[in-house]
Amino acid sequence: MRAFVKPSSDSDQCELTEVAAPQIDADELLVRVKAVGVGIHDSYFLPGDAKYPYPIGIEAAGVVEEVGDSVRGHRPGDRIAFISSMQPKGGTWAEFAAVRADSLVVPVPPALDFVEAAAVPVAGNTALRAVEALQAVPSGGSLFIAGGSGAIGTLAIQVARARGWRVAASASEHNHDHMREFGAETAVDYRDPAWPDRIRTWMPGGVDAAIAVPPGTSGETLTVVRDGGALVSVSGDAVTPERGVHVQVVPHESDVRAELVRLMAEISRKEKRVVIEEVFPFGEAPAALAKVRTRRARGKVVLRVL
Ligand SMILES: NC(=O)c1ccc[n+]([C@@H]2O[C@H](COP(=O)([O-])OP(=O)(O)OC[C@H]3O[C@@H](n4cnc5c(N)ncnc54)[C@H](OP(=O)(O)O)[C@@H]3O)[C@@H](O)[C@H]2O)c1
Repeated sequence: MRAFVKPSSDSDQCELTEVAAPQIDADELLVRVKAVGVGIHDSYFLPGDAKYPYPIGIEAAGVVEEVGDSVRGHRPGDRIAFISSMQPKGGTWAEFAAVRADSLVVPVPPALDFVEAAAVPVAGNTALRAVEALQAVPSGGSLFIAGGSGAIGTLAIQVARARGWRVAASASEHNHDHMREFGAETAVDYRDPAWPDRIRTWMPGGVDAAIAVPPGTSGETLTVVRDGGALVSVSGDAVTPERGVHVQVVPHESDVRAELVRLMAEISRKEKRVVIEEVFPFGEAPAALAKVRTRRARGKVVLRVL
């Protein structure tokens, strides 16, 4: 099969090559990959026991080709989207992937195409877990999202609005109408030094909660959270809590599989939208990764494999 691989543990290259398709174990699915969601960590999220050449990538959508002997609940022909990370046999930048059946695997509704489906698992899972961590915020409460125009931010705005929260979000000005389309009431430009004042004008005393997506945004975001409120740092910034604000990273232990299945269904019914910045042919995967690395992508970057 064709795959983008890291050829050896000491290489920082990623090259397109022919490798053997993975053989599955009893607890795995063999998936024919149709589309891949591209993430900033794809080229260095590797397990210690990786087998080289190692196909990189952690999320995709495709069709189940084979099912391991002990797997229940999946059949050849199923359309699925999934996160499969840190697996020694390799990841998703490949025509086939071996996926543990107990990893985050969700059905792709018939009306949803694979490109859209591949854009959802990581961004959806992260947005849902970040919102879930703020469940103490009541309907009518207020949320600020730093980085509201990215893949995670646009989904988080929609999930928060569905909870009845009022939302403000930051991005540069050309993305403000875009964030408003998803339900942000107030949009601020993170390059404007007065943006925290604008949020405090919108919500005197500060917002009930905040989600800081881009790295390095949590410290300034903390200043617009009310005393005793809550902040989730998606990129894991180190911040010193103050004024009784509860600061946390996205909790990895929370299980939002059911919510992710619902989100997929809502997207397929066009009740929610996953934003795709650009779809690249599989052979142009390095350009897709370069685009994500600019941290300017409006939504998700996806590779079309077949
Ligand atoms: N904790 C987890 O489980 C987890 C999982 C997945 C990803 N992540 C992290 O999430 C991040 C990726 O998020 P993403 O996919 O939504 O993409 P992203 O690359 O963070 O989003 C890009 C968007 O953010 C805006 N932006 C850039 N810098 C900003 C700033 N300083 N303040 C406000 N907005 C800014 C850009 O808008 P403009 O063009 O308008 O500037 C662009 O539209 C990565 O840092 C990754 O490490 C964490």
